[in-house]
Amino acid sequence: MSDTLEVTRPATKLRLRPRTPLLGADVTGLDLRQPLDAAPRSAVRKALLDHKVLVFREQQIDDEQQIVFSRTFGRVTPAHPIRNGLAQAPEIMENILSRDGAEYAGFDLDIDHPLRPAVRPRGRVGWHIDITFVANPTSVTLLRGIEIPEAGGDTLFANLEALYESLSPSLRGWLDTLQAIHVRDDAAVGRPPAPRFDGREPGPFAALHPLVRIHPDTGRKHLFLATGFVKAIHGLRPRESAALLDYLNDELAGRADLHARVRWNEGDLVVWDNRAVAHAGPIDPKFIQGERIVHRTTVEGDLPRGPDGFVSRSLVGEHFNTIS
Ligand SMILES: [Fe+2]
Repeated sequence: MSDTLEVTRPATKLRLRPRTPLLGADVTGLDLRQPLDAAPRSAVRKALLDHKVLVFREQQIDDEQQIVFSRTFGRVTPAHPIRNGLAQAPEIMENILSRDGAEYAGFDLDIDHPLRPAVRPRGRVGWHIDITFVANPTSVTLLRGIEIPEAGGDTLFANLEALYESLSPSLRGWLDTLQAIHVRDDAAVGRPPAPRFDGREPGPFAALHPLVRIHPDTGRKHLFLATGFVKAIHGLRPRESAALLDYLNDELAGRADLHARVRWNEGDLVVWDNRAVAHAGPIDPKFIQGERIVHRTTVEGDLPRGPDGFVSRSLVGEHFNTIS
């Protein structure tokens, strides 16, 4: 192939504008309604590794086009290990703020048994990495704005590589040797999940992961911290575990210098490297006027590996499968 031909290819139109010096980029020059050739697909994959979060503005693609683009990053999973996808597109998880808003409710004696623990499944406001309660969390998440309110519903991202590197060498050396227990058990907290269309068990799930993860593509170390799912640090006394997690979770949520914020428009597609960032959102559900609907797809992930060679494993439940 000649150089002349290559410079006319769509890949050369891809432009990146960083959102912060450390995290995220706005991508222009690509029309995701069309399947991408090998060159732009490769450029997008590299951009994701470099910037960790990519924002494609107002693409106006449909569910099938989102699924096709998701395959740029690997095989696509069902919508979620617990929740069903759309009947016509089982890869798509639809989040509707008004419907899913019960996650934010307090303990309610009209709904909850008084002997149940007063803890619900993770609210979507909390910082997390997607699907870490399985041994092979998804590698990439793609989220598309379907109906977006006038204001509110932004998503925050945190750079887990920079967060790790900001810690002292002695603390990093200790964290490199630890594993965390990640759990999601909706039935135990009074929210038994509906049966799955595909007949698989909708939980409970628990997995043991390294607290520091070696990124499989870049080889860089990342703090592997999903506040809402991490129950404890394996092997520590409960108060030691709680104190360490309090500190790390405070750092994750409090380091605005390591964060990027994405404001949504209808049609926006936001793609993030689920191995390299944690996220929180929608961050202000109580204050949003109007509906917020987003459609999510996720890409198959491998078993995380720690600096000491520890490889993640399931404690309860099976691995997350793929379907397309
Ligand atoms: Fe999420």
